[in-house]
Amino acid sequence: MRYSTAGFPFSRRLGRCCLIGFLLSGGGCLPVMKDYAGHRVFNPMYLFYLEWGLRDKWQKPDEVITALELPPSAVVADIGAGGGYFTEKFSAAVGPSGRVYATDVQEVMIKRLGKRVGRRGLGNVSVVRGGFHDTMLPESCCDLAFFSSVYKEIDARISYMRNVRRILKPGGRVAILEYRRDVDAPGPEPGSRLAQEQVIDEMQSAGFVLLKSLDFLPREYFLVFGAAP
Ligand SMILES: C[S@@+](CC[C@H](N)C(=O)[O-])C[C@H]1O[C@@H](n2cnc3c(N)ncnc32)[C@H](O)[C@@H]1O
Repeated sequence: MRYSTAGFPFSRRLGRCCLIGFLLSGGGCLPVMKDYAGHRVFNPMYLFYLEWGLRDKWQKPDEVITALELPPSAVVADIGAGGGYFTEKFSAAVGPSGRVYATDVQEVMIKRLGKRVGRRGLGNVSVVRGGFHDTMLPESCCDLAFFSSVYKEIDARISYMRNVRRILKPGGRVAILEYRRDVDAPGPEPGSRLAQEQVIDEMQSAGFVLLKSLDFLPREYFLVFGAAP
């Protein structure tokens, strides 16, 4: 099978080579990030790593979603959804009376999300092309805005997160998962990782308060915020 990632021809064989190189290098020497329309974003060449079955072992998606204590019929924005790894799990968690908005800024990810939604029949998922400065979601639409390995890629994070406040329903929350700086495992280049204290400071500047800091993921910190009164 061959598919194109933003014009880059990609085969399974090349994918395997990338995976081996990625694992051998600790993920630190390969171009995990690339320029897209003048922005530094995740390189879709490595999407296979985010979709890989072994991810469940360290990502613990079911525990992540349980810890979020979603209200019944919840509406979740999976912002920077990539290939839809979490989108599909949120779709099952919120059920037919809930909704998931899966957004991304890269065309190749939007296509992958659309394919996943069609192939898996995810009737409660809407795929939305996000902007670099705005989620492009309606006001007060969501109980949760979820960012898995996305926050560090956002250009002007404080103003972006101020916009995120607008898409939250009263009592809505923001969850941020990001790689720890001190973890030696394949993932984002060490220089691109953010200290969790920096994320907390920036979120406070954007008008949020930290509600929970969860510590059960081996590679990532997991922060949950609510809107400051
Ligand atoms: C490392 S991938 C993570 C994908 C997915 N969240 C996951 O955990 O599998 C980061 C994704 O965020 C997207 N992204 C970066 N900046 C964004 C922004 N401002 N708004 C929406 N998506 C963004 C990238 O295109 C990329 O698909």
